[in-house]
Amino acid sequence: MRIIHTVAELRTALGSQSNVGFVPTMGNLHAGHISLVKIARQHAKTVVVSIFVNPLQFGANEDFGKYPRTLQADCEKLQAAGTDIVFAPSVEEVYPDFDGKQLNQTMTITPPPLADTLCGASRPGHFSGVATVVMKLFNMVFYNTAQPNVAVFGKKDFQQLLVIRQLVRQFNLPIKIIAAETGREADGLAMSSRNGYLSPQERQQATELHQALRLVIDHIASGNRDFASLQATAENNLREKGWLVDYVAVRSVHDLTEPSSTDKQLMVLGAAKLGNTRLIDNIEITLD
Ligand code: PAJ
Repeated sequence: MRIIHTVAELRTALGSQSNVGFVPTMGNLHAGHISLVKIARQHAKTVVVSIFVNPLQFGANEDFGKYPRTLQADCEKLQAAGTDIVFAPSVEEVYPDFDGKQLNQTMTITPPPLADTLCGASRPGHFSGVATVVMKLFNMVFYNTAQPNVAVFGKKDFQQLLVIRQLVRQFNLPIKIIAAETGREADGLAMSSRNGYLSPQERQQATELHQALRLVIDHIASGNRDFASLQATAENNLREKGWLVDYVAVRSVHDLTEPSSTDKQLMVLGAAKLGNTRLIDNIEITLD
């Protein structure tokens, strides 16, 4: 496994290789991330994993500064999972006009309307930052590689996955996007690098978000179609338990719009803060 920090070295290492599999991450890797790497391994000859905490997708009051950076431990896990290349660029490498203070990324990607709702509504600019950096990373990794190319993204960040699918579609990128299931702890909590911010007591409580979404799923499965009241009940239950709720929402799996009566594939999504830590989760349901 090689650890590479510059685009020039990356392009030389990949040459005109065919069938590259790519997993973009921000590091501090857990078993959820590693499951994506294993999927990439099954679909590609050469597996590249990027580790880059992207400043452009963090809001001014968010956790960019304190986001955990654990390159050495990450590389050990990636080596064990069969990674060929770890690409860990600096901010200057990804943002060539960075002057030490401002990124000066004056051209950015405007994501599709589905990015304005849910997490996009509370994190203005977030999905533009995600789409812009993923576009850059795709150009760095795939520019001179022959097809077929695959990139793996987790369903844990479902809205992000849909933004990236549109990015690939609308910019005609020769990349197949593969969606990976969400890795969970034994109590159902979705694995996340941000779980490390939780105090022991918050960690115990954290499973309540997943439980709240499960309960909504159970009601829908037993025929309840009053999504507005299911959402409100779930939000209130979480608030009573001390969560600062952003949303619990039942949406269409295709574009995150509010489901029509003919929509069969639904997604129940939630975002809420426990103390200072913002957690997200989602569960899919197909109606028959
Ligand atoms: P990060 O949060 O590090 O996640 C990297 C990838 O791992 C994403 O595709 C995410 O959906 C997936 N992932 C996270 N937790 C998971 C879990 N419990 N189970 C399965 N997959 C999981 O998402 C980002 O970084 C960034 O926005 C990025 C795409 C790298 C752009 O900067």
